Amino acid sequence: MHIGSFELPNTLFVAPMAGVTDRPFRSLCKSLGAGYAVSEMVTSRKELWNTLKTSRRANHEGEAGPIAVQIAGTDAAMMAEAAVYNIDRGAQIIDINMGCPAKKVCNKWAGSALMQDEALALEIIEAVVVACAPRNVPVTLKMRTGWCQSHRNAVTLARAAESAGVQMVTVHGRTREQGYKGPAEYDTIAAVKAALSIPVVANGDIDSPEKALAVLRATGADALMIGRAAQGRPWIFREIGHFLATGEHLAPPLVAEVRRLLLDHLEEHYTLYGDYTGVRSARKHIGWYVKALPGGEAFRARMNSLEESAGQVRAVADFFDELGTRMDRMPPAVMDTAEDRDAEHMELAA
Ligand SMILES: Cc1cc2nc3c(=O)[nH]c(=O)nc-3n(C[C@H](O)[C@H](O)[C@H](O)COP(=O)(O)O)c2cc1C
Repeated sequence: MHIGSFELPNTLFVAPMAGVTDRPFRSLCKSLGAGYAVSEMVTSRKELWNTLKTSRRANHEGEAGPIAVQIAGTDAAMMAEAAVYNIDRGAQIIDINMGCPAKKVCNKWAGSALMQDEALALEIIEAVVVACAPRNVPVTLKMRTGWCQSHRNAVTLARAAESAGVQMVTVHGRTREQGYKGPAEYDTIAAVKAALSIPVVANGDIDSPEKALAVLRATGADALMIGRAAQGRPWIFREIGHFLATGEHLAPPLVAEVRRLLLDHLEEHYTLYGDYTGVRSARKHIGWYVKALPGGEAFRARMNSLEESAGQVRAVADFFDELGTRMDRMPPAVMDTAEDRDAEHMELAA
């Protein structure tokens, strides 16, 4: 599959997740079988570009290409400027966020709120495409199925986006009103796929190889995008890839491998965020890795009291060493319930 001139190694994508899919996590997913990753969104508000948060998000040092940056905003000219700003900092693909439901985005910026105002949405898309075209940078769009149950306009908007020059559309199978509640639906994604000639990516609730196959079959999508199920389980991409290619399940990773990749992940994390912030923001990742493991809940609680990177690294290494005395391989994944995911998302969005 191609996005513009970029050929992707496979069609399993990491979803952009603010506060999660930073460069270390994206790189890890790519090394474990993801074919493509989109950065966390960067605001189109210029006054925030020099903040530490935005400059970290715009840092792509050492990341395998293509570098895709997601931008969010409500003003066409500002969005066009944000696209150029990110291209100047290494973005090779620009993704427009019309999928994120968090209040902060809808009030201050945009996200899925834009689906309610098709004229403005299109104005933004056109301005970004015009800014990116001379730089030979493809523009993609991430959206939901619509604003609410009675206003599911993904097909109309996706068609208009294609005509405006967008080169790939991702659809999360929920409306804006749904947030993360209720199961994702795939009929609207199938309708978008049937209506467009550019690649369409299906997203929402893909958490196992079987689900991936079912979503591919239900939608006919060109690619799949996986978000929450990759938290603490970045090897899900190679598991799904293997299943789609062979019909067989890959064995769960060795405990020793997970120990090594989590410790490497932590090192990269501290390098990007520095020790103080890094130790704190690493806690959620560590929590996800150990969540379903024996002793994982207690370890997660203890982790919150560790204040320094050396102590955090030692505790993680000890936890996995001890686990390794009980089992060679990680236990099979335990799927989160919809309630678990809702609760966790509310926590992250707060
Ligand atoms: C913590 C978190 C942060 C997110 N941040 C973004 C974002 O910055 N941009 C975006 O388009 N979607 C964002 N999303 C939505 C995801 O990209 C994805 O569409 C959604 O989680 C559904 O996919 P999943 O069921 O595989 O998680 C976020 C989701 C979560 C859970």
